[in-house]
Order: sequence, then C-alpha cells, then structure tokens
Amino acid sequence: MIHNFSLDSAAQTADLAGRIGPHLQAGDVVLLSGGIGAGKTHFARSLIQALQTPLGLVEDIPSPTFTLVQTYPLGNVEIWHADLYRIGSVDEIFELGLVDAFENNISLVEWPDRLGSDTPSRHLALEFRQGKSENCRNLKITAKGDGWEWLKNV
Ligand SMILES: Nc1ncnc2c1ncn2[C@@H]1O[C@H](COP(=O)(O)OP(=O)(O)OP(=O)(O)O)[C@@H](O)[C@H]1O
Ligand SMILES: [Mg+2]
Repeated sequence: MIHNFSLDSAAQTADLAGRIGPHLQAGDVVLLSGGIGAGKTHFARSLIQALQTPLGLVEDIPSPTFTLVQTYPLGNVEIWHADLYRIGSVDEIFELGLVDAFENNISLVEWPDRLGSDTPSRHLALEFRQGKSENCRNLKITAKGDGWEWLKNV
C-alpha cells in the first residue's frame, strides 16, 4: 500500500511524525530514504520526541551521522535510530547489532539501501523528496507486509 503526503514545512513533517509514532510497536522497522537534507533526521527526531515527551523523558536527539546508532528508552522497548551513510560493509551493520535489534525494538533507519539483503521484508519505507519550494517535501510511504492498516488514518 502506498500513501503520499505533501509537507509544506518542517513543522508539518514533525506533526506527521508525531501522528505516526504512537502506532509503532516493537518489531516495527521504518526505513527513511531521500538525499542529504531531505528531512530524514528531522522526521526521526520529531517521532522520538513525540514518544518520549509524554513519558517525561527529555533527551537531546543528535543525528547518528558519526555514531551510526543512537538508542532511546521507551517503556519496555527501545527506539534505535541509525544512519548507515558512513557504513563500510555489511559486516559492520551486523556488528552494530542492528539486524538483531529489528526484531524487538522500534527501528528508524536512514540510508537503508546499505542494508541490502538484511532489509527486513516487513517494513514501512518513507521516501522524502524536495517539493516545489525550499521547505516543501513530498513524502511517499510504502507499507510492506501486514499490520500497517492504521496508516490510512494518520
Ligand atoms: N518540510 C520539511 N520537512 C523536513 N525538513 C525540512 C522541511 N523544510 C525544511 N526542512 C529542513 O531541512 C533540514 C533537513 O535536515 P535533516 O538533517 O533532517 O536531513 P537528512 O535527510 O537527515 O540528511 P542526511 O542525509 O544528511 O542525514 C532541516 O534543517 C529541516 O529543518
Ligand atoms: Mg540525517
């Protein structure tokens, strides 16, 4: 199933992330694609904040550009926010523990093309593209596998 969104500002992207976040469950994997500056980190940061704030958890949410993975507690699951842009090899992805983490956590992965055959078959694929003006983005969400029916109501 494919859903398209037109996001006219960074605030609209944050708002959508905040509506999607509460639907995510342990084992859900969100793949964030799009060029540099497309809005992948902004979306992930907004989603993490929207889930942590009601629990009284206030954290800085840096881009995982250099650390590759940042993890955030959320009740009895963790959110794993990964950026695979600088990944050297598929082995490195495995060493990060990311592939195991997919099963039990909520995973948000930037530059997911690096996963290759480790891409989980059930996932949400978000593709950000520059829109008609500076702060506009077109977002295409493709749902693969079962359990994403809620998406049509966000
Ligand atoms: N509609 C929008 N949606 C998302 N971000 C927007 C939008 N309009 C402007 N921006 C700005 O664009 C920038 C997106 O940067 P961000 O770090 O999220 O990109 P990225 O896709 O993660 O890039 P990278 O590949 O370098 O990690 C932010 O400064 C954000 O405020
Ligand atoms: Mg980023």
